Amino acid sequence: MSTEFQKALDCLQKGDIVGIPTETVYGLAGRIDQNNAIEKIFKVKNRPFFDPLIVHVSSIAMAKTLCCQWDQIAEVLAKKFWPGPLTMILPKTTIVNPLITSGLDGVGIRMPRHDLTLKLIESLGVPLAAPSANKFGRASPTSAAHVKREFIDDNIHVLDGGICEVGIESTVVLVKNNDLSILRSGHIKRSDIEKVLDEFKVEFHFIENPNKKESPGHMKHHYMPSVPLVLIENTISDIDLKKEALSKMNQMPNEIDGVQIIKPKNFDNFVELSLSSDPVLAARQFYSHLRNCADQNADFIIFYKKKYHVGEFWEALFDRIKKAASLTI
Ligand code: TXA
Ligand code: MG
Repeated sequence: MSTEFQKALDCLQKGDIVGIPTETVYGLAGRIDQNNAIEKIFKVKNRPFFDPLIVHVSSIAMAKTLCCQWDQIAEVLAKKFWPGPLTMILPKTTIVNPLITSGLDGVGIRMPRHDLTLKLIESLGVPLAAPSANKFGRASPTSAAHVKREFIDDNIHVLDGGICEVGIESTVVLVKNNDLSILRSGHIKRSDIEKVLDEFKVEFHFIENPNKKESPGHMKHHYMPSVPLVLIENTISDIDLKKEALSKMNQMPNEIDGVQIIKPKNFDNFVELSLSSDPVLAARQFYSHLRNCADQNADFIIFYKKKYHVGEFWEALFDRIKKAASLTI
């Protein structure tokens, strides 16, 4: 066992919080039975208490201790997609602190696909509550260095598990009896879920527009880099772009849904975010390329939406790009 791993274990044992690697993005984790750790997660992230945390488990048996309903849908999806980037929201038992679920009846549960984190949870024998390891509303981290930099003043131990393989956050699906709703898109697509449930002849039906109350973490803006991102969906010259961006930005409020809108100080120079034309690779690159762009001393970052950026394979990444953008033109 490495000393870094042992240190992570010790911190969590004594009720502190730790940066943990997963296949999606890094998390900021605390034991679900340590109230102080859960409170500290919200505090260091500046996260409002209305936005619930996902609980990470190392086995299906552990997941079952957290929820009072584990029907065929949960069983089939867990067996097919865990460990992996799928979070299921299921009716919670009393062992889950209401602080974790923001007082909601359901708890978000997932088994991450990362050996170090699975070993950490298994060694503790206690699930870990972990949101993405970034300040509220800001870009998610896909390396240990991103987490260290984000919480540079908070002295948080980060377990380095390399670069995140998926690169964007898990698909979040609310499961209520036979009804399913996707609260956040991700690498696991709706068609993947439909396919496996059909295969096992499970009865289900998708609810298209989930109730806002069931999805408190849905803000218009989120995942924002430290330098404003402008998403360009229409053809525009560089000169018009600067003019249009300036006038639109000036009309925007400083805060939307409690998230601070990142605005440029000047509109002189910009840097272009470029991503692979393969959606899986593009998702893996997204947050680190976005951070690299933000480090280049430009006034703003631009991203051109291309013709091929449509359809199911791009949906989850575009959800992140749209929300990360201060402005769409
Ligand atoms: O891939 C991931 O899911 C990463 C890694 C670390 O596991 N975690 C993550 O957590 O993205 P976070 O907190 O940044 O995003 C979790 C989302 C939020 O939008 C939150 O509102 C929603 O899931 N969520 C969590 N628990 C919920 C619940 N009980 N009911 C409804 N939504 C929930
Ligand atoms: Mg997050």
